[in-house]
Amino acid sequence: MQTSFRNIKGTFDVLPHDYTAAGNQTYGSAAWLFVERRIREVFERYDFREVRTPMFEPTEMIARGVGETSDIVTKEMFAWTKGDTNYVLRPELTAPIMRAYLQHRLDQQGPVQRLSYIGPCFRAERPARGRFRQFHQFGVEIIGSSDPRSDAEVVAVLMAVYGAFGIKNLRLRMNTLGTPEERAAYKAALRTFLLPHREALSDISRERLEKNPLRILDTKLEHEQALLTEAPVLTDFLGGETRAFFDRVCGYVQDLGIPFITDPKLVRGLDYYAHTTFELESEALNGALAGAGRYDLLAKDFGNPNPVPAVGFAAGMERLFVVLNDAGYVFPNPLTPDVFLVAMGAEAENWVFRKAQSLRTAGIRVAFDLKGRSMKAQMREADRSRAPFVVIVGDQELSAQAVNLKNMAEGTQETIPEDRLLQKIQSLNHHPS
Ligand code: HAM
Repeated sequence: MQTSFRNIKGTFDVLPHDYTAAGNQTYGSAAWLFVERRIREVFERYDFREVRTPMFEPTEMIARGVGETSDIVTKEMFAWTKGDTNYVLRPELTAPIMRAYLQHRLDQQGPVQRLSYIGPCFRAERPARGRFRQFHQFGVEIIGSSDPRSDAEVVAVLMAVYGAFGIKNLRLRMNTLGTPEERAAYKAALRTFLLPHREALSDISRERLEKNPLRILDTKLEHEQALLTEAPVLTDFLGGETRAFFDRVCGYVQDLGIPFITDPKLVRGLDYYAHTTFELESEALNGALAGAGRYDLLAKDFGNPNPVPAVGFAAGMERLFVVLNDAGYVFPNPLTPDVFLVAMGAEAENWVFRKAQSLRTAGIRVAFDLKGRSMKAQMREADRSRAPFVVIVGDQELSAQAVNLKNMAEGTQETIPEDRLLQKIQSLNHHPS
């Protein structure tokens, strides 16, 4: 089998089986379904309802929401124009969900909306371990509450997801970015401090010095980090109300027994944040597992007359898989058929074809061969399918209205009347009829 076509760089196929490509362990669809189901179970326990928004959105909306100066908008959008409309593959879901919330007046469905999601996102980043161009986020958004317990609820549900997989050794960093005014004052002070050191900065930090100096705090370069130890600290620019709010958030997180550290340098790369931000990290991975925060002003940026308080998190599925892989997590096996039907001869083939349909209608998972091969080849296929039972029929059996039923685990075989097959399989599988 051969083709010169390949999936696009930074994307991957989920196949029925696990495989490794470009240094990334890609799990099969059974593992994906299992992980998604477990995440949804946690979301349901925490009283969230799933929403699904389109894969593409108006570019202007994403640019306004995520921020004109953010890396995502300036460098990483898959965007195109058709007719008069600019489109972008969604790089994240917070902005689309706020758009949907406002558009559909979800406030009328209840004062606090607790929304969850799992789905693909797209960013034109340089692919690496746990970094893709099409990746998948799961997350929640609590919209309509300015109560600091909401921020703690977001922390709680995030930690519960990782807890559900038994993942330990995670680091939760929390910070507050304060109000836009407080942040603006700090930004100015940081710029004033850094300007005399402009020449010592990397190209990217110099660019950020103009557009968004806060992002320089994210630097991984040692000489820049050393320089920043002397820099003004955001905390000193925060007013009493901001501090009190953040103290309450931290107090609630402590109440839940969730360990965290506060880090005044945690700024996050999206522009819609105000007040609480947090990130979850693992030693196993360079980038963050999850990013989160409060974005009370996004609704106003989208044209709503009033701010709508909101807070949420998003986490990368692929990064969850990386930590699960490192932890040696064992996923359940892919589904197997309940029974494999083997036919000897043309008449038996027809019987198998019809019988498969009637058993499936009765709720049994049935597999059979579609290539008209020898009995030996069909038995090999049955083995490979790992079906616990195999039914073998030939012309002789059919004329006697009987079939051979083989128990693969025990290696035993019995002949039973054809019309008792369904009942027999049901009793063996303990399947509800
Ligand atoms: P973010 O930090 O840009 O935040 O992304 C959240 C998570 O998505 C990251 O921590 C990472 O696990 C995953 N992720 C991001 N980019 C990639 C990539 N290229 N490949 C693989 N995984 C990736 C947001 O998107 C915000 N919407 C989070 C949020 C929700 N804030 C409030 N509510």
